[in-house]
Amino acid sequence: MGKWTRWGLAAAAVLAVTLSAVWAYSQMPVPEDIKYTQTKDQTPVTFSHKTHQAKNPECTACHVQIFQMKKGATTEGKPIMVADLLAGKYCGACHNGQKAFPITECVKCHPAKK
Ligand code: HEC
Ligand code: HEC
Ligand code: HEC
Repeated sequence: MGKWTRWGLAAAAVLAVTLSAVWAYSQMPVPEDIKYTQTKDQTPVTFSHKTHQAKNPECTACHVQIFQMKKGATTEGKPIMVADLLAGKYCGACHNGQKAFPITECVKCHPAKK
């Protein structure tokens, strides 16, 4: 098998896996809002699939490279740390002031206490 044939087969396999993930995810219902309530020194964070889907129509924008498909699974039940967000992980992969508002706009995710 030539080098380019092997490369082509590998590329086709990657494409097939990606397309089947896109198809499988498109058959799933969009989950209810996810509430992160572990943090005591900040207000709870709500993640809305509905508002995000409007901006990121493909589930693969987040699943499963950035987030597992189960609440809390990505960080194995531990809270998401703000230092990781500022370093570009999890929500910070997009909330970096380029794709979406930056992590420094705390109140957009942690609403001010009333
Ligand atoms: C902008 C990012 C993003 C996009 C796009 C996205 N999700 Fe999610 N999804 C998340 C996050 C964050 C979680 C929670 C992960 C965690 O807490 O570790 C999650 C969790 C889930 C869960 C588990 C819910 C639960 O309560 O345990 C399902 C099911 C899911 N997503 C399906 C989808 C489907 C179907 C799509 C496409 C229509 C989609 N997601 C698109 C970010 C996203
Ligand atoms: C894009 C949304 C988002 C923004 C913006 C954001 N956070 Fe968070 N933050 C989260 C999420 C999600 C968690 C996890 C909450 C949980 O598990 O209860 C979290 C957790 C935290 C925690 C607890 C974990 C830790 O690191 O000690 C603190 C403190 C915190 N954030 C402070 C801040 C501050 C201060 C800012 C502004 C500089 C900020 N956050 C901006 C989403 C955000
Ligand atoms: C794949 C990229 C992506 C990821 C990952 C992502 N977001 Fe967003 N988010 C966006 C975009 C794009 C917008 C809309 C543009 C804007 O408001 O700057 C948005 C808007 C929001 C908003 C305002 C609209 C609303 O839903 O109320 C909040 C709050 C928010 N994101 C929180 C989060 C939290 C919390 C996480 C992590 C659990 C997260 N986002 C992960 C792309 C992303």
